[in-house]
Amino acid sequence: SEPLRLGIAGLGTVGAGVVKIVQAHGDMLAARSGRPLAITAVSARSRAKNRGVDLSAYAWEDDPVALARRDDVDVLVELMGGSDGLAKAATEAALSAGKDVVTANKAMLALHGQALAELAETNGAALRFEAAVAGGIPCVKALTEGLAGNRVTRVMGVMNGTCNYILTRMESAGLPYDDVFEEARALGYLEADPTLDVGGIDAGHKLALLSAIAFGSQVDFDGVQLQGIERVSIDDIRRARDMGYRIKLLGVAQSGPDGVQQSMRPTLVPADSPLGQLEGATNMVVLEGDAVGQIVLRGAGAGEGPTASAVMGDVIDIARGVSIPAFGQPADTLATPRRANEAAP
Ligand code: NAP
Ligand code: HSE
Repeated sequence: SEPLRLGIAGLGTVGAGVVKIVQAHGDMLAARSGRPLAITAVSARSRAKNRGVDLSAYAWEDDPVALARRDDVDVLVELMGGSDGLAKAATEAALSAGKDVVTANKAMLALHGQALAELAETNGAALRFEAAVAGGIPCVKALTEGLAGNRVTRVMGVMNGTCNYILTRMESAGLPYDDVFEEARALGYLEADPTLDVGGIDAGHKLALLSAIAFGSQVDFDGVQLQGIERVSIDDIRRARDMGYRIKLLGVAQSGPDGVQQSMRPTLVPADSPLGQLEGATNMVVLEGDAVGQIVLRGAGAGEGPTASAVMGDVIDIARGVSIPAFGQPADTLATPRRANEAAP
């Protein structure tokens, strides 16, 4: 059967990870997809950079929008990042041409998810973003597929690997913030602009995306009450420990009769609880539905392999012909966001 032809825009931590999986597991991926997966073209800023993968078999495009428009690209895999600019332009170019898009770009989706989902649906294309939320944890699929029969009441969890890494390493290794921050950078956890991580914004983007799927409403990132970890000191961490607690950047989104409430902020959790014991870049996502009760998903929230794993799950779904709206229901049926702390209209 005909291969599904992939154009990869962005060859950094995640993009290189995707190339490695496609190169290492071709036969397995073809068997699971029902057709071969073939990377045909790639794009990044620097053609000369050594990325630890052999790119010689793929066409090179300096311009990711041109990559998205190539005749030999069926699916754009957008792994550049940035909420606007070229990532958005390439995504729009692909969707406008009726091509499917897989992206890990939570910043773009948190700000433009509604418009992009509508564009995808207008053009009969898929927009998939499992990798955008909690790295390797398949929480988007859990909500859009496994829990689709539930009225979801609450979504919560630790959704930024960098922050959890910093908070736990400062405590366990007694290292200063700056050293731990550099470790996180070397491990590929950081956003290109790390203030998104430590400011809680990246985790807020993820919570807003999960919240939209969970409650069937348009993404409302502005409705997330946000506080980052920049002001958490080693003394705060030690005081919390002495009282039997840990500080986690914890997100909570819940739906009640007045609307949806979303917050992402440093929170004390009991040290011996599952959340309290979450170490390193691990994430935990807790989902509560009226039929299923509570389920807990835990795993690597950042880094090359885990994030590429989530990207590949979406690519394989597309190759199989699995069709799921980006936010679990058609974009034009998503409700206007109603914030619980605002008066009902
Ligand atoms: P990264 O290592 O910084 O890689 C970004 C890639 O995009 C680089 O290859 C870069 O090219 C390319 N790029 C950036 N701007 C470009 C432009 N204007 N034109 C062409 N190419 C451009 O980033 P990453 O960590 O892989 O993250 C990629 C995306 O995945 C982001 O949306 C991020 O939020 C998301 N994500 C990352 C992780 C993670 O753990 N890293 C986890 C989940 C989601 P050069 O290499 O030539 O500079
Ligand atoms: N910078 C993000 C994090 C990458 O640390 O969680 C994964 O989304």
